[in-house]
Amino acid sequence: MKIQNDKQTKTKQEETKEKEILTELRNFHKKDVSFSSGKILSSMCTKPLKIAEEARKIFKETNLGDKRISEGAIEIEKVCIRWVGDLLNLNQPYGFITSGGTESNILTIMEARARKREAMKESGEKEMVPEEIIVPETSHFSFDKISFLMDIKVKKASVDKNFCVDLNSVKNLINKNTIAVVGVAGTTEYGSIDDIEGLAQICMVNKIYLHVDAAFGGFVIPFIRKLNYNVRNFDFGIKGVDSIALDPHKMGMNIIPSGMLLFRKEPKFSVNASYLQGKHERLLGTFSGGSAAGCYACLKFLGEDGYIKIVKECMENTKYLAEGLKNLGIEILNPTMNILNFNIRKEIYNKLVETGWIISKTSKGYARIVIMPHTKRTHIKKFLNDIKQLMKNTEKY
Ligand SMILES: Cc1ncc(COP(=O)(O)O)c(C=O)c1O
Repeated sequence: MKIQNDKQTKTKQEETKEKEILTELRNFHKKDVSFSSGKILSSMCTKPLKIAEEARKIFKETNLGDKRISEGAIEIEKVCIRWVGDLLNLNQPYGFITSGGTESNILTIMEARARKREAMKESGEKEMVPEEIIVPETSHFSFDKISFLMDIKVKKASVDKNFCVDLNSVKNLINKNTIAVVGVAGTTEYGSIDDIEGLAQICMVNKIYLHVDAAFGGFVIPFIRKLNYNVRNFDFGIKGVDSIALDPHKMGMNIIPSGMLLFRKEPKFSVNASYLQGKHERLLGTFSGGSAAGCYACLKFLGEDGYIKIVKECMENTKYLAEGLKNLGIEILNPTMNILNFNIRKEIYNKLVETGWIISKTSKGYARIVIMPHTKRTHIKKFLNDIKQLMKNTEKY
């Protein structure tokens, strides 16, 4: 068998074929809206740092799911988990780089189930069916997927007028089948932060696993707290928090896909993977080490000061948009972080969508804007001006 080396020689035909394929792909890509267009006002992802893209390229052949061949990538993952552990007030964190918030949330509920089942086995208790988790009604839809996927009953706790979970509602939903409670630090629709200290108290008394979904807020809250914004803490400094999910591919400035899941204690969940010669503790069997490398690059390149600068600009732009909307007589909800909700007539909302703005609505009908690092002042001015014109042009609006 003839083994080719990396520098493959191409025939003329192959070269032409390659060019054709790349042209086709570029044409498909023209249909994608780019972050730099300024039109994307509701995504929680953003244009990644250049160095993260470079880092991914270096590790494009690695697999975090295979310890035998990707030792370097796995070492990077460990370093990232340690650094983020520092950020979240935990000295000796355990955890994984994942594909994002959904995977982290699934994995954490698998872990809660593994712990509960082990504890029951040890105490000789009978298995409970169905197992239950309690999430705020504002939690991400990934928990509905979990219900379907894991055959778990997902109970939704009500929220207060600020869209933060009602602790009494959580208490009332707890029973002997509850395997985990979830709090959200930075809800997808409102950016609200649940009372994690309150939830931790409840969970400790009832010996229940507490997960904090900070997929969005994880790379915002620690930095706005440093900027003296008066927002709630959610991290491992709070006794009783068992795990935290946060996404580098959201405000962490990394490439898609990348999430992170940190545990206070060594996770118990694993399966035997004989062909990989060992145990497998992740959800995905194969996952690119490029995500870990991108994460390392972002964390090291930006450092705390870099993230503070990015978050500061997002918060100032959010404030600018809020003021602009108020000046137009539009009712806004006070933002906790860089997510802004406001009341706008359906006709204006629809026209904004028609003219190419990518915006969204919450389940309660508020317009929802996420001010990410790719959203600049000029984009916000243009957006406000479009709303102003629409309000002027159509009297009935
Ligand atoms: C709070 C929260 N959790 C989980 C997720 C799911 O993250 P992903 O889309 O990366 O799976 C999101 C996504 O927006 C989110 O806002």
